[in-house]
Amino acid sequence: MDLFSSIDVEPALNRMKELTELIDRYNYEYYMNDQSLVSDYEFDKLLRELQDLERQYPELASPNSPTKRVGGEVNKTFRQVTHRFPMLSLGNTYSIEEIVDFESRTRKLLGDTAFSYTCELKYDGVAIGLTYRHGQLVQAVTRGNGTVGDDITTNVRTIPTVPLRLRGQYPDDFEARGEVVYPFKEFEEFNRQREADGDEPFANPRNAASGSLKLQDSAECAKRKLQFCMYFLMLPGDADSSGLYSTHYGRLEAAGMMGFKVQPHIKECSNIDEIRAFIDYWDNERWNLPYAIDGIVIKVNQVALWDRLGLTAKSPRWAIAYKFKAQQVSTPLESITYQVGRTGIITPVANMQPVWLGGTTVRRATLVNADFIQKMDIHEGDSLLVEKGGEIIPKVVGVDLAKRKPGALPVQYITCCPECGSLLVRADGEAGHYCPNQDGCPPQIVGRLEHFVSRKAMNIDSLGSERLEMLYDKGLVRDIADLYDLTRDQLVGLESYDTDGLRKTSIQDKGAANILAAIEKSKEVPFERVLYALGIRYVGEVGAKKLARFFKNIDALMAASVEELATVEDVGEKTAAFIYDYFSDERHHRLVGRLRQAGLCFEVVETRQSNVLDNKTFVVSGVFERFSREEIKFSIEQHGGKVSGSISGKTDYLLAGEKMGPEKLKKAEKLGVPIISETVYLEMIGEL
Ligand code: IVH
Repeated sequence: MDLFSSIDVEPALNRMKELTELIDRYNYEYYMNDQSLVSDYEFDKLLRELQDLERQYPELASPNSPTKRVGGEVNKTFRQVTHRFPMLSLGNTYSIEEIVDFESRTRKLLGDTAFSYTCELKYDGVAIGLTYRHGQLVQAVTRGNGTVGDDITTNVRTIPTVPLRLRGQYPDDFEARGEVVYPFKEFEEFNRQREADGDEPFANPRNAASGSLKLQDSAECAKRKLQFCMYFLMLPGDADSSGLYSTHYGRLEAAGMMGFKVQPHIKECSNIDEIRAFIDYWDNERWNLPYAIDGIVIKVNQVALWDRLGLTAKSPRWAIAYKFKAQQVSTPLESITYQVGRTGIITPVANMQPVWLGGTTVRRATLVNADFIQKMDIHEGDSLLVEKGGEIIPKVVGVDLAKRKPGALPVQYITCCPECGSLLVRADGEAGHYCPNQDGCPPQIVGRLEHFVSRKAMNIDSLGSERLEMLYDKGLVRDIADLYDLTRDQLVGLESYDTDGLRKTSIQDKGAANILAAIEKSKEVPFERVLYALGIRYVGEVGAKKLARFFKNIDALMAASVEELATVEDVGEKTAAFIYDYFSDERHHRLVGRLRQAGLCFEVVETRQSNVLDNKTFVVSGVFERFSREEIKFSIEQHGGKVSGSISGKTDYLLAGEKMGPEKLKKAEKLGVPIISETVYLEMIGEL
């Protein structure tokens, strides 16, 4: 008898079941029927009670507990899984004639048999397959190459419209297929937040959905508000295909009853005219949907006929996808404005006569850089062809030559900065022009300030863009170090007005106190984030981390040569040259000096985890599963070990990953240096 069986777990188990059922029901009503049966407060209370019980009795916790919706498990890597049924793709076409051919071919092949089609939306997201056994979600896998995909179960469990446990009647063992989409509204909100944090926004909802499903931290994925659109019920060959299960339409209806969110926009059609009407309707109406679609899928509805029609090499003969053409309009170019980014990069923007395109009015679109304008051969007064595909951002794809005015001249790219008048430069091999006046060009200065205070940098959140602009305009802050000289007296009573004379922002007592407190707190920010906050071109969050870990302090980093800088993982020649140039500039030395004086952190503070590797020297080679190369080196140091670049008599261990260099292996064997794997290493540091 072990300890547990002496404790009566029955009441806990019953309560956990009860809580699970309640929470599941509330979730279902909320996400499927838009109904809130309880307040957020009450809901959170129940969820917390279940979480507490699961912590107390981990052996009773179900992998499909509703607590998994909020994530928490971390995926170091994603296991590769072979699909039980390959995930086929569909034949697809942009031509309605080919749809007409598909329909008449199918009709011929089926002869006298009565049948129908289903027309449904082709979701523009990430295809996944969900395996359910005995009504429980057991696995979620990406499409991958159709044969093998990645196991992303922990992340998929956080998607509210993926049922973790099924309701009513369901087959014992089947796969539900569908597409994970990022609804427009949530995607835009997410991208806005990313930009505010100084992160690169995602180009479209599909990329963002795909990136979210591959996040290591499932709690982060839970925040992304993804949706699952189910489009297919995959049953094993010997499954019951009678009743509702005899048609695709019926199968989706059945899936709805099991708890899947099946989109309502599916229609049974009996002839090509009905199919055409469905296509035409959604080609216009797609912009009113909350998520992106890129076409229509037409399937033969009767499951029994699928075998008769068979497969081609890659796709079934009983289905086809019609892809929407991107919508295109032509609209006159009114002017080109040039924006200056925080690194001085110039982005030309086309200001066009407003035009209705794919559900929104388009006024502006990027012209990328000088090469783009030249390649498109844009002339003054041209009309531009603007396109909107399944994505949100309109693209300029060409010039409407028929509307070119006689005698129009090619657009001349600017040579001077529109903000400060400096002569622009274009480095060799760079597509963009830059304004070199880093310290005198207002948008660059304000941009750098914005970056400096952003969440992933110094996190001075009480200073938004408007306040920074005001501090700059009033001459109180000219560079990032000036922030640390601000006083309460300078701040209180500051006001700025927008062009309409309406007050835009002001700072009172409380605001000033908050700003000063946040600035003070920023002095605790670790070196790697301070380095990122400096805003050196091409040094992102990850690069800054790697540089900080490698050089340990700013003095070593400032003294490094281009070659040394380029030996740091993920730092290429180009970035190395930029870092070198940045620190060769006397002004940046002074800036770092002032920030150091203000009390910012310019060295890695040792956060030793243990001393188990004291006096041990490691050489690291190859690729690892749980760590990047830089991370494993950092981990060794955190446990007291040293890392050396080459094997010698002093090496204690060769830590070998996959694809290790053969030379190192030979040398280690010759010198009798023990070769250890990542697993052995994890055991050594007590993490396994
Ligand atoms: S049916 C055997 N239905 O489009 C049937 N696919 O090449 C397989 N897709 O990546 C697919 N919406 O993930 C089907 N309503 C829909 C769909 C759909 C999007 C995706 C699918 C695949 C591609 C088809």
